[in-house]
Amino acid sequence: VQVAQRLLVRGAAQVVVVCRGGQRYLAGPDMADVAIVPNGSVVVGRDGDVVAVGPAEEIAAQFEGCSFDQIIDAQGHSVIPGLVDAHTHPVWAGDRVHEFAMKLAGASYLDVHRAGGGIHSTVEWTRAAGEPQLLASLCERLRRALRAGTTVVEAKSGYGLELGTELRMLRTLERARALVPLRIVSSYCGAHAVPRGRDADGYAEEVVREHLPAVRRLVEDGSLRVELADVFLERGVFERDAARSVLRAARDLGFLLNFHGDEFTDMGAGELAAELGARAVSHLEETSDQGIAAMATARCAAVLLPSTAYVLRLKEPRARAMIDAGVIVALGSDFNPNAYCIAMPVVMNLACVRLRMSLPEALAAATINAAYALGCEERHGSLEPGKQGDMVIIAEPRWEHIIYQLGCHGDIISHVITQGNVV
Ligand code: NIG
Ligand code: FE
Repeated sequence: VQVAQRLLVRGAAQVVVVCRGGQRYLAGPDMADVAIVPNGSVVVGRDGDVVAVGPAEEIAAQFEGCSFDQIIDAQGHSVIPGLVDAHTHPVWAGDRVHEFAMKLAGASYLDVHRAGGGIHSTVEWTRAAGEPQLLASLCERLRRALRAGTTVVEAKSGYGLELGTELRMLRTLERARALVPLRIVSSYCGAHAVPRGRDADGYAEEVVREHLPAVRRLVEDGSLRVELADVFLERGVFERDAARSVLRAARDLGFLLNFHGDEFTDMGAGELAAELGARAVSHLEETSDQGIAAMATARCAAVLLPSTAYVLRLKEPRARAMIDAGVIVALGSDFNPNAYCIAMPVVMNLACVRLRMSLPEALAAATINAAYALGCEERHGSLEPGKQGDMVIIAEPRWEHIIYQLGCHGDIISHVITQGNVV
């Protein structure tokens, strides 16, 4: 007698499983070699985990006589794992559309930041906002991500720059978990900028002495889940020593390190990440060959953010050199009031066109490698038995349409599924 299962996705033209056999990431030439089952089916069990993936005839034989809560006939469609967005800042109030105009007129990101705009203006709005307001806008943004195929999202605090507001942001993320059916991986990013009127070292010391231990206590008593810690390593923001002290303290408290580095200046982010055993560094537009080599050796993921490089007209991060060197390249949207894009299909398109990644490389970067960057690769990032049953069904027979049809993901995604439920 067969046990009942939650979902059968039957007979898809392509099921892209991405990797097999428990690979934790794809690096180097493996990134171009995502695994695909032609004419495939997927079964998700009542616990929300994938039970089986394989050729449609084999799955049909294996589950003959089995009942399913739901069956989706995917003929002529393709299936990919749920997308993983490895970098977002989705909790904030206010907006910065006027700064977009300033930047188009020639102001640089750091000009606006140093003049007290940018992160600082979002901090003012966010400090003044109540939790219900933050939660409502966060949930709307997360639903938008979900509709674009994102089923796991990294989400940072960092618009408080004082303990009370930072904790409010983390609590808002915690409450959103029960309201939007996608996986949130939270990151404490209290060292996202130096608060107005403070010096970097003094504030970094406050983060180490006060903020990080306070976040840790709330994690330990079960009121918050915060997996990662972040800092903005940049000239004139947190320089190497200040960033190192924050990251070291965070690591010693058990947070996985995943930080911003080398966006505008080569700050030696890759070398620092290797020294500290960081799981990932984001941005890396200015990283040197030595930084790339250090990241490859340390198995530190590079989270590239092509939509930010695009809106700020930055030098592109050197994805090709990184992949050639064996770095685990991942992708993130960097969704924030400066770079207002939360759609991973758009990010993957930019990664292909601007960063010269191939279509399979972009998919590996937006699934298994992004999951690795967040430390959740055992549960997410590929369609393998035992992983969470998260997937996206595309109403096209080849999966590449999700990247190729720029801006049309809303029209061609027919189903987004998390834990075996259509959402
Ligand atoms: O990753 N560079 C620092 N942090 C964000 C931007 C945040 C903001 O401008 O509000 C980033 O691009
Ligand atoms: Fe960021």
